Amino acid sequence: MATPFLSSSSTILHLLLLAAVSLTAAGATVTHLHFFWHDVLTTPNATAVAVTQPADPSSSFGQTVVIDNAMTEGPDASSALVGRAQGLYVVVSQNASNPALLMVMNLVLTAPEYNGSTISIIGRNPVLQQERELPVVGGTGHFRQGRGYALLKTYSFNATTGNAVVEYDVYVTH
Ligand SMILES: *[C@@H]1O[C@H](CO)[C@@H](O)[C@H](O)[C@H]1NC(C)=O
Ligand SMILES: *[C@@H]1O[C@H](CO)[C@@H](O)[C@H](O)[C@H]1NC(C)=O
Ligand SMILES: *[C@@H]1O[C@H](CO)[C@@H](O)[C@H](O)[C@H]1NC(C)=O
Ligand SMILES: *[C@@H]1O[C@H](CO)[C@@H](O)[C@H](O)[C@H]1NC(C)=O
Repeated sequence: MATPFLSSSSTILHLLLLAAVSLTAAGATVTHLHFFWHDVLTTPNATAVAVTQPADPSSSFGQTVVIDNAMTEGPDASSALVGRAQGLYVVVSQNASNPALLMVMNLVLTAPEYNGSTISIIGRNPVLQQERELPVVGGTGHFRQGRGYALLKTYSFNATTGNAVVEYDVYVTH
């Protein structure tokens, strides 16, 4: 007689095989999204708000910023809105010469073809590098079961205000 452990593990194996077959039969889709992400720290229209200050004022290590940043089709903030990036980033490098952020955010899409779908990103962003790669760890709606990556390039950065525009190329397999 099979023990519960054996019967449940054979059920799991069976389900895994079904999943692999249906994935192969259905084929995966790769969607590429291109947009510009606006980090606006200045009032009156700030969409990025520092919620902690660093313990050591000579360093930004530990600073945490909560964002509800606009994502637009073009680099100009007045171009068509495609969604908002909601989440946070934290300065996680102690070495100011090599700054890195931990970014945790959901891209909440409102463009007609993806309206209501989300893409979840968590990753390391070494902001001074010309191109950064962050993992896409999941999605909802159109992007359910999504996996992929995002490539980020700084389009503009104002050192006085801290405001930045970043170009995103996001590839999601779903
Ligand atoms: C803030 O937003 C309002 C409303 O969209 C706009 O009229 C104004 O020009 C913005 N101000 C700045 C400084 O961007
Ligand atoms: C800080 O980063 C710079 C640039 O990557 C590097 O040259 C330097 O050795 C680092 N300093 C420390 C203390 O790790
Ligand atoms: C997106 O969905 C929301 C909520 O269902 C709706 O109010 C809005 O009009 C939709 N926008 C577009 C561009 O389809
Ligand atoms: C940076 O922002 C300041 C304050 O709004 C502005 O005066 C300056 O022109 C901006 N610099 C650039 C390069 O856009």
